[in-house]
Amino acid sequence: MASLISTNVNQLSNKGYQLPEQVKIVEVGPRDGLQNEIEISLSDKVSLVNMLSHTGLTMIESGSFVSPKWVPQMANSSELFKRIKRIHGVTYSALAPNLVGLNAAIAANVDQIAIFGSASESFSRKNINCSITESLHQFEPVVKQALAAGLPVRGYISCTLGCPYEGYISINKVAKVAQQLHDMGCYQISLGDTVGVGTPEAAKAMINAVSQHVPVEKLAVHFHDTYGQALANIYAALQLGISVIDSAVAGLGGCPYAQGASGNVATEDVVYMLNGLGIESGVDLNELIAAGNFICQRLNRANGSKVALAYPTAQARFQSKI
Ligand code: HMG
Ligand code: MG
Repeated sequence: MASLISTNVNQLSNKGYQLPEQVKIVEVGPRDGLQNEIEISLSDKVSLVNMLSHTGLTMIESGSFVSPKWVPQMANSSELFKRIKRIHGVTYSALAPNLVGLNAAIAANVDQIAIFGSASESFSRKNINCSITESLHQFEPVVKQALAAGLPVRGYISCTLGCPYEGYISINKVAKVAQQLHDMGCYQISLGDTVGVGTPEAAKAMINAVSQHVPVEKLAVHFHDTYGQALANIYAALQLGISVIDSAVAGLGGCPYAQGASGNVATEDVVYMLNGLGIESGVDLNELIAAGNFICQRLNRANGSKVALAYPTAQARFQSKI
């Protein structure tokens, strides 16, 4: 199982804010990216995870143990976990919202699970068919049994900066759910801008509200890039000491229950920005771009990473691999 890259936010920059020296990237492309895609074979999914495993990423959310009636695209996650070639030092994680999912995840030998709640009542009902309170109640035994089985649990909160059904969401609601997930035993809380509507000052206000209840070292950010604000929001989050960033190769992503939301921020673009800031991520940009080009070619779609589009040499590298 991969160890977390240590955070060092002690160096105050001459700009008056702190930036971490290292950042851990949680690659969510194979899960968040492909949960919306029907036209993709299992072997291509496996190839994507295998390519990502060689980029230096230390955590790859590779699948999802949810109801196949709700998200048929993730129905072959057990098979995927059987087929991928695991690399030492990489954590292969998956979503598991209930005990059925947890048991399937354990049987598939996942390294870690994530539960996923919401700060919006409406989104909670649309996404997991229950209220926020009911969801937290249902998560409790999942976390307990996962921890007993030796699986760390990550907690997501959706709609932290807005909801596709309700619009405005109070940051106090986000903070309350974060505290409950943390108290339950989640080692990290990933704050999701599911619809990608947030802007930097709003993101800062939300993170500040949450960090009154959960230490900032235990927070991650998960920005969808619908309005093109994700990198700016990540930069704002870094200034507050956030050192774990979720992103998806090639900017894949979306949630079947958040219509209109586009993909996650592209991992390539995050790595490029971190490189420019002198923040270590351990990720090889060329290998990452090759993986992104591979999956875009298989999906027959344009690459959602600006950096990948700007790196023609990586395209040539990809061509030589197929
Ligand atoms: P439900 O219909 O209320 O649950 O769904 P149920 O217990 O009545 O089960 C219905 C059927 O599903 C039963 O089968 C269960 O056995 C089966 P039947 O008896 O009808 O044949 N079932 C399962 N099968 C496989 N694995 C399971 C499982 N659970 C039940 N784990 C449920 C409730 C939570 C299951 C459903 O609503 C669900 O699966 N929702 C998942 C939705 C989802 O995956 N959304 C995308 C991920 S979240 C996201 O993208 C946001 C995030 O990226 C952060 C952000 O961007 O904000 C994380
Ligand atoms: Mg998401």
